[in-house]
Amino acid sequence: MSELVRFGVSIEQDLLEKYDELITESGYANRSEAIRDLIREALIQEKLDAEGETESLGSLTLVYDHHARNLSGEMAEIQHDHHHNIISVMHLHVSHDDCLEILALKGKVGELVNLSNSLLILKGIKNGKLYLTLPSSKIVG
Ligand code: NI
Repeated sequence: MSELVRFGVSIEQDLLEKYDELITESGYANRSEAIRDLIREALIQEKLDAEGETESLGSLTLVYDHHARNLSGEMAEIQHDHHHNIISVMHLHVSHDDCLEILALKGKVGELVNLSNSLLILKGIKNGKLYLTLPSSKIVG
């Protein structure tokens, strides 16, 4: 870890008060740690957006009704086609109708986005979201 640097920031008082409320609710011990996390997140997102070739880690969460016609078969086919990007799949039968599926992913950003999009657009998938991050060795600070 490199040397700590202190710097001053000019900001509207009401904006800072709202931010302090938010980070206190989130459980941050101090403002500095919250701002460090904001900066790290911005740097990670910049790297993830920069090129589809960046090696990344991710999770895809999907919610669907398991009665949807052909959906399970289509999902399985897509996942087999991308088996090299899928580390693990957790499937939960959360109610009589609903399935919650969480895929742990690893690979190039472009590959993970394509895989996720091909699942998210399937008829019957009610909601879903891909979260991407970087291996910890690639995260500054
Ligand atoms: Ni299920």
